[in-house]
Amino acid sequence: MSIEHPSFGKLEDDRIIIFDTTLRDGEQSPGFSMNINEKIRMAEALTELGVDVLEAGFAIASPGDFESVKAISESIGQRNDTPVIASLSRAGAMDVLRSAEALRPAKRKRIHIVIATSALHMEHKLRMSPDEVVGATVESVTLARQHADDVEWSAEDATRSDIDFLCRVIEAAITAGATTINLPDTVGYALPEDMERMFTAVRNRVPGIEKVVLSTHNHNDLGLGVANTIAAIRAGVRQVETTINGIGERAGNASLEEIVMAVRTRHDAIPRSNNIKTTSLLRVSKLLSTITGFDVQPNKAIVGRNAFAHEAGIHQDGVLKNAATYEIMTPESVGWAKNSLVLGKHSGRAAFRDKLRTLGYGEIGDNQLNDAFNRFKRLADAKKVVFDDDVVALVDDEVMRDHERIRFVSLDLHAGSKAPPRAELELEIDGAVSSAVSTGDGPVDATFNAIQQIFPHTATLQLFSVGAVTEGTDAQAKVTVRLEENGKLVDGQGADTDTIVAAARAYVHALNKLLVKRVRTEPQALSA
Ligand code: KIV
Ligand code: ZN
Repeated sequence: MSIEHPSFGKLEDDRIIIFDTTLRDGEQSPGFSMNINEKIRMAEALTELGVDVLEAGFAIASPGDFESVKAISESIGQRNDTPVIASLSRAGAMDVLRSAEALRPAKRKRIHIVIATSALHMEHKLRMSPDEVVGATVESVTLARQHADDVEWSAEDATRSDIDFLCRVIEAAITAGATTINLPDTVGYALPEDMERMFTAVRNRVPGIEKVVLSTHNHNDLGLGVANTIAAIRAGVRQVETTINGIGERAGNASLEEIVMAVRTRHDAIPRSNNIKTTSLLRVSKLLSTITGFDVQPNKAIVGRNAFAHEAGIHQDGVLKNAATYEIMTPESVGWAKNSLVLGKHSGRAAFRDKLRTLGYGEIGDNQLNDAFNRFKRLADAKKVVFDDDVVALVDDEVMRDHERIRFVSLDLHAGSKAPPRAELELEIDGAVSSAVSTGDGPVDATFNAIQQIFPHTATLQLFSVGAVTEGTDAQAKVTVRLEENGKLVDGQGADTDTIVAAARAYVHALNKLLVKRVRTEPQALSA
């Protein structure tokens, strides 16, 4: 049955709304926090991917969250192809008003309200009676509707809630004006048959349910997030809440790329459509990994590096004869291209820009383009072959560095087995170049000591990890550095054919993130 929705108009019968919560549920998990520029970069990529609703944050959670929701509403939220921008709120007036304020600039907006409905949560966490939960639902949804036509109401821990109470409170939310009803498996407890039973009961019993969009939001504590989401779709839900790479609280959320490809690959069993450009899935997954510093595991479905690798001889033989023997979807359909040779060192700026477009970068600024192009030229000199993945690593590295106060300029390193390593480093701080010479226990230590000399700080190194962007001994290194200062953790990334340069870039990136954190909480602490 078709639904008339305030943001989507008449929803076709088979249409599934893709609600992405990478920037809210995903971002709130340990180690995955992003700064405002990174969130905007991700929001752009998600918009180009084609998500319908983009949950930009939890506006009342912190000033940083508020600013991110507002900045996304002011930037992406103004585009003609803008998704609906959502902000999470608890069921209270202050939360709702904070979301409304942050979302004000967005052309299409949604206030998302959550309140727990299971006996366990109501009694021990909220310390509210069921009647009070119904009252708070009605009041907050009514208030939200004064600020947005599109209001989502979520029953936290729905899958462990009493079904009679759940039906009662959903009816109250709909009467108060909710246009989407979301029933999350907050703790990842449900089995697919539980989802089917819950949604079927709600659809059969709640008056007015046919006028709203039913939504599912599943956590992965038992590894069932995607299976439960598919079960919910088959039980009639019209919206699925997902994250890129399945990031999210604890074991994460149901992963966007897996759900979208399950629906597409098994259209025979799940005849639903959505607006996702599947060929951008890999690109967005990699961008998230670059920003957060966490790669997906090699065997991750769709976007893991082994997802389309065939090792067994019998499989390789089959794939060579006919790929369909062992591939249920084509690698190209999700963005894996043959790691094609890009451009040579004689290629010009226009060809480089064109390449970036085909790699899924919309418009990047002229300064970023120049910096990335210059680095590409140096890379083409240093490396025998430059692959698409090299260009992606290099451009992401440049884009992340936009607006940074501390910039890497150069590193001259003397290392080996005969003498202690010695690093000569130049950094640019607020436009002025400073240099230092330092030794250390190894080349990385010498380089980090030089950074400490130029920019004294008290942050300590918590993690140092190195990976390769492509294969071969001339591959670019991708380094992640985690720093800690006064309990705040930040991850920085850097890529270069020289591992120590990549390490210096990663360290500098992390320092810049710390500066942003300091400014947010202590505006006066701008100097090192
Ligand atoms: O898991 C959950 O219940 C949530 C809600 C806020 C939708 O993330
Ligand atoms: Zn959640």
